[in-house]
Amino acid sequence: MSLLEQTGLRLLHRFDPETAHGLALKVLQLGLSPTTGTVTSTRLRTTVAGLTLPNPVGLAAGFDKNATALRPLSRAGFGFIEVGAATPRPQPGNSKPRLFRLTEDQAVINRFGFNNDGMDAIATRLKGRPSDAIIGLNLGANKDSENRAGDFATVLATCAAHLDFATVNVSSPNTEKLRDLQGKEALAALLAGVMDTRNTLERPIPIFLKIAPDLTEAEIADVADVALTSGIDGLIATNTTLDRNGLTSAHANEKGGLSGAPLFDKSTRVLAQLYRATDGKLPIIGVGGVASAEDAYAKIKAGASAVQLYSALVYQGLGLVPQIANGLDALLKRDGVENVEHAVGTAT
Ligand code: FNR
Repeated sequence: MSLLEQTGLRLLHRFDPETAHGLALKVLQLGLSPTTGTVTSTRLRTTVAGLTLPNPVGLAAGFDKNATALRPLSRAGFGFIEVGAATPRPQPGNSKPRLFRLTEDQAVINRFGFNNDGMDAIATRLKGRPSDAIIGLNLGANKDSENRAGDFATVLATCAAHLDFATVNVSSPNTEKLRDLQGKEALAALLAGVMDTRNTLERPIPIFLKIAPDLTEAEIADVADVALTSGIDGLIATNTTLDRNGLTSAHANEKGGLSGAPLFDKSTRVLAQLYRATDGKLPIIGVGGVASAEDAYAKIKAGASAVQLYSALVYQGLGLVPQIANGLDALLKRDGVENVEHAVGTAT
């Protein structure tokens, strides 16, 4: 980490986490963060669900919920960016405080509850997006919606023209009963609605399904089954966990979803189970606790075609992104792997 970034992060951590996050976004919007440009190589360039990525290291949903920093984020070294979650109508989310740093555990707990500006405002910002980046949107449902399953298709229909991919997020722990939509019948019906909408688009984009890490092996098998029959293009494993095992920080028992280092093993295990259950037929994006090139490589070997991260940025800054991508390139070279695609699922 550069001295400037170290100082910046130390300063940010003096503020409460939500204020600090707002300031970090402001710094990005003002163009004051270091720009890396595109990180790529013949080893890193890869195609996932038809999307050509310069490298397989992406930004996870939730960092730029309202798509307000697309251009600076597209210059930060990511191979792809996921913004959102967006819901049909704007909503304030849960009351504050709702974001906690667990520094000793290199983790974060959040219970935001899909606070966002709503799909229309987000679609307007997406319209002005940089054309040379791969940008996706995390689709969510309004808390007070009478048709939550329908909300995903509604947001997709409104924003798809400005997107490269979209993610059905039924795995956030912060909207009551949302995760019930991961059950077999409910999930099949929901995905059918989303795929119907996708198939009517002028430019049909790939659809991913993001799952929770707190599923049993039988539930993972059900998700795999539905994913394979629904025609979706890929899976994202995983969202945040309700598990609080092994934490030492004072905020360990805050309600919400836990992310960062303590999520790594659990989310990687779910990823490997999902890879086996789908026979490697669907690309999977591995998320949860990625904080180094070694972590990214481990996810890839466990079955991920690409990875995403968020929490590690809180502790190591955006400079971590090119470090992971370039580090991954070095690890692939060390092991004589010509392209990252050849490493996928080699250690399940
Ligand atoms: C998230 N995450 C998330 N995921 C999602 O699908 N939609 C969302 O709106 C959000 N919002 C969100 C807010 C905050 C503050 C955090 C920390 C996380 C989950 C995120 O995309 C990712 O799946 C997990 O955080 C695990 O990855 P990391 O953070 O361990 O790299």
